[in-house]
Amino acid sequence: MKDWTGNSRSAHAALGARNYAQNEREEHDYYATEPKAARLLLDVETFSPVIWECACGEGHLAKEFEKAGHLVFASDLIDRGYGEKLDFLATGISPVPGADIITNPPYAFAKEFVEHALDISEDGRKVAMFLKIQFLEGKARRELFKKCPPKTVYVSSGRLRCAMNGDFEKYCKSNAVCYAWYIWVKGYQGDTVIKWIN
Ligand SMILES: C[S@@+](CC[C@H](N)C(=O)[O-])C[C@H]1O[C@@H](n2cnc3c(N)ncnc32)[C@H](O)[C@@H]1O
Repeated sequence: MKDWTGNSRSAHAALGARNYAQNEREEHDYYATEPKAARLLLDVETFSPVIWECACGEGHLAKEFEKAGHLVFASDLIDRGYGEKLDFLATGISPVPGADIITNPPYAFAKEFVEHALDISEDGRKVAMFLKIQFLEGKARRELFKKCPPKTVYVSSGRLRCAMNGDFEKYCKSNAVCYAWYIWVKGYQGDTVIKWIN
């Protein structure tokens, strides 16, 4: 098993007895987002009073949205002790009408998460995804951007951290990855504006 830097680690040595299986926890791309990322987003974008954090992990982002006064529906494929257990990609109708969807999705399914979020959102609703800057490149994603251009991409000038299994102490002293918040507004067909935060 590897941590986010690519080094081999024993992630669970210090985790003790949790009530979910070790391999289940390690699967599905669980990298918790530094909560500051949520605060930076809320500084620059307004959202619906209701937010759906559809891959919530242990709630590192969701808790910040709640603190800011939003009503947050939090769900994840895996029960990590926070939110509802729900496969986002298999959810046909939003369980929270009128919600904006905000998450750091599993990177392996990031494009699918964006597409599905836009599919099930009503016109004018926002979809905000915390993604690597490299998400901008690639031929398949070019097609996505042509069909559904993000309205704004906020590049984080300072590095934000994502920690495997939510263990910032153990796995995440620094971060070599550049992240950005990508904001889609359902139905938007204009140019994408790039801005900088942090
Ligand atoms: C990169 S982590 C981010 C966790 C959280 N959003 C955060 O920022 O701290 C991705 C999360 O997506 C979840 N996930 C993977 N596939 C999923 C699916 N099909 N539906 C819902 N959640 C999923 C994983 O279990 C994991 O918790």
